[in-house]
Formats: sequence, C-alpha cells, structure tokens
Amino acid sequence: RKKVILDVDTGVDDALAIMLAVKSGALDILGITTVNGNVSLDQATENTCKILQFLGVQNEIPVYRGADKPLAREVHFEHRVHGRDGIGGALSDMVVSKRAEEESAADFIIRQVMSQPGEVTLIMTAPLTNLAEVLQKCPELVQHTAEVIIMGGVVRGSGNITPTAEYNIYVDPEAAKLVMGAGFPHLTLVGLDVTRKALLSQEDIAKLTNPEIAAYVEQSTADYRQRYYERNGVEACALHDPLAVGVAINPDLVTKLDYYVDVETRSELCDGQTVCDFQNRLNKPHNVSVCLEVDGPAFLTLFTGSLNQELKT
Ligand code: BDR
Ligand code: CA
Repeated sequence: RKKVILDVDTGVDDALAIMLAVKSGALDILGITTVNGNVSLDQATENTCKILQFLGVQNEIPVYRGADKPLAREVHFEHRVHGRDGIGGALSDMVVSKRAEEESAADFIIRQVMSQPGEVTLIMTAPLTNLAEVLQKCPELVQHTAEVIIMGGVVRGSGNITPTAEYNIYVDPEAAKLVMGAGFPHLTLVGLDVTRKALLSQEDIAKLTNPEIAAYVEQSTADYRQRYYERNGVEACALHDPLAVGVAINPDLVTKLDYYVDVETRSELCDGQTVCDFQNRLNKPHNVSVCLEVDGPAFLTLFTGSLNQELKT
C-alpha cells in the first residue's frame, strides 16, 4: 500500500477525504497533519480527531498540529461554507478523547519522509503553510518525497474565493509559491478544473449502506450542498479534497499534463492565482502535473464503494 501523510484543515470535504482514505483500505496512512484554513488550527485538529474516532481508528492514526496562521498573511476562515464547527454541525454531541501528538506537523513530515526516502506521498488538502515550513527547515526533503498531491488552484476556470484564485492557494500564496517552485520530481495539482466535476449528489448519498456514515454525510454536507446550489445551480457539492485522495488511490481517474505553474503573490486582483504556462511562453522547466480531466462517475463509485466497505482490522 502507498504510504501517505494527509495534510488537512478539516472542513466538510477534508473530513470526507479522511473517510475515503481510511475506508478505502488502499493507503497506509502514516499520520494526519493539521493546519489553519477553513477553521482555526484548534478546530481543524479537533475535527480531525473526531472523524478518526468516529471511524474507530483513533489508535491507529496519529494527528500532528501544524501552523496556526499563513506564512505572511492573516487567517481567512470559511465558516460560511463549512459551518461554525467546520463539519456542518455533524457529530456535535460526540465527546472527543483523541488528542494530537506532541511533535509538530513539520517535524513529523520531515521524520517520515527522510527515514523512508522515495516512499512517502504527501496529500495536501489545505493551505500549504505546513509544507512550506518543512521546506524552510529541510530543503533536501524535496528529492526524497515520492509525490506531492495538492488539492488547490485552478488553471482554466474561475476561482472560488476571488475571480482568479482557489481557496487553498489564496489563503497562503507565499507558501504555495514556495512549494510549487521547490523542484519536487512529482507534484500533481488537483484543482477546481477537475474537482468541480467530482460532484456528490443526493442520489450518491442514497447509495451509502452504513447508516451512521450515511447520516454523517447527509448532515455534514447539507448546508455545503445548499451553498453549492446557490452558487452553481447544481444540486450537489464538489468533493474537492476527496478527489485528491482518489488520485492517490487511482491515478487513472484523471488525465494530467505537465506544465510550468507559478503562483501570483503581488497583485491586488489576482493574488493566489495559479498561472499555468500552457504555451511555454516563459520557457521554464515543467514543475507541475496539472489534472485537466476526471472520470467523475468512476471517482464517485470509488468514493461511495469505499465508504460502504467494512474496515479491515
Ligand atoms: C478547498 O477549499 C476548502 O474550503 C476545501 O476544504 C478545499 O480544500 C476547495 O477550494
Ligand atoms: Ca480543505
């Protein structure tokens, strides 16, 4: 099984990404690192522990706290989309006993990658502050990372936080710029170009066979789906973060092409834009594999099928 570390700002769709990663049984999850983003670092960490406890894997998967703010900017929470608690009010009565480890997110990532060169894939579904801190502390980690899969950015369509920027990149564009320019041999961008085609509908939820999981998905996504409907006129919601996990499980779900991609950090209108040099105008080496197409139905089959599986202990 592929060894992975998930980096999350748990959020409605981060929680579903964790569920997919755990329930698929296809990944060896070394740990989960948390960061500020949709909600505060404390809330993201609590939500992550809560989901692991809900799934009954609290003793198997350690959680590590990361950055409580972006590298150079103020926090930018998204309570409108993810609710006051970040997971749409689901599991609100649950008492969370699981706690994060003492080690920091950055130190954990460095320890894991450097002790298993070429084996660890990083799945990033949040602002990229933790990975930027890793690079500042240990630049040589780049060559030893199997792959970095980032849910973030958009290269052809419009943004979801400004006209040009996707949320994860917008929140910490300096971190994103550092990560994209670091020289990772395999860096995959799972942006809005594809995640907007990975839509969870009421019909998909109806396919969930485990009553607790079905109730959780229904409740946690209710407002999120409503908001997506108001914005996009589609009765569904995008499974942004789960698709990044889906790509780690089965890369064939997407079609990718390599380009030079950089992040705008000094523009009033376009900060956080992921600029993709489709025509090689800048003559720079290609640094990013950009996902351009996705087999949405195949991904949804993987998603619901995985959530319907019993956990193998
Ligand atoms: C991304 O932004 C966050 O709100 C979601 O959790 C996802 O990671 C989508 O743009
Ligand atoms: Ca996220």
